[in-house]
Amino acid sequence: MPGCFITLEGIEGVGKSTNLAAMAEQLRRANLSVVVTREPGGTPLAEELRRVVLHAGEPLSETAELLLMFAARSIHVEQLIRPALARGDWVLCDRFTDATRAYQGGGRGQAAARIETLAEWVHDDVQPDLTVLLDAPVEVALARTRGRGSEDRFERETHAFFERVRASYLAQARREPGRFVVVDATASLEEVQKQLAIHVEKLILNHMNKSP
Ligand code: TMP
Repeated sequence: MPGCFITLEGIEGVGKSTNLAAMAEQLRRANLSVVVTREPGGTPLAEELRRVVLHAGEPLSETAELLLMFAARSIHVEQLIRPALARGDWVLCDRFTDATRAYQGGGRGQAAARIETLAEWVHDDVQPDLTVLLDAPVEVALARTRGRGSEDRFERETHAFFERVRASYLAQARREPGRFVVVDATASLEEVQKQLAIHVEKLILNHMNKSP
């Protein structure tokens, strides 16, 4: 039985980590084999690229940033995601290509056609079954990240940058309503987790019905 691929998206401060852990716990309780991972990163080599792209000690062009995201993704898909799905595992990934569409596309203004060419090249056969977009107004989300310590290249970006990123995420969700669910991240943690649990449960049932 091939596995299932779930991705979690949203701007910084929407609570991805806490909710990812809760979703993983729910899947494990359903006796599913779960792999929790993140992008950029997920393998030792891809984590090295993460450090470069988040904390580059010299200026990084927008083109280089985009290519590094896909270089890390290519390693991650080949070494971890594709084998896990082939084994029948459930892969829960903190960000994937929708983040590139939102940050490098919406935020930086890189052409959508360029991003889609890279996406097709790197992981045409690997697409999320479900993408959860945790959404909150930029001022609310960013206020939650303050005081978390030293900032990376993205966390130092302007309010306007994050508005573009959020708008891009919401536009993607409208274009692909069958894959995306948008959850209001300003609701209480209990409410957010209740919503997520409903969507995960639905996916588990669908998946069981599809399996031989
Ligand atoms: P994280 O801190 O939420 O793990 O994400 C790392 C940062 O990398 C976050 O600011 C979003 C950014 N990012 C991109 O710009 N493009 C991408 O494709 C990915 C996966 C992350």
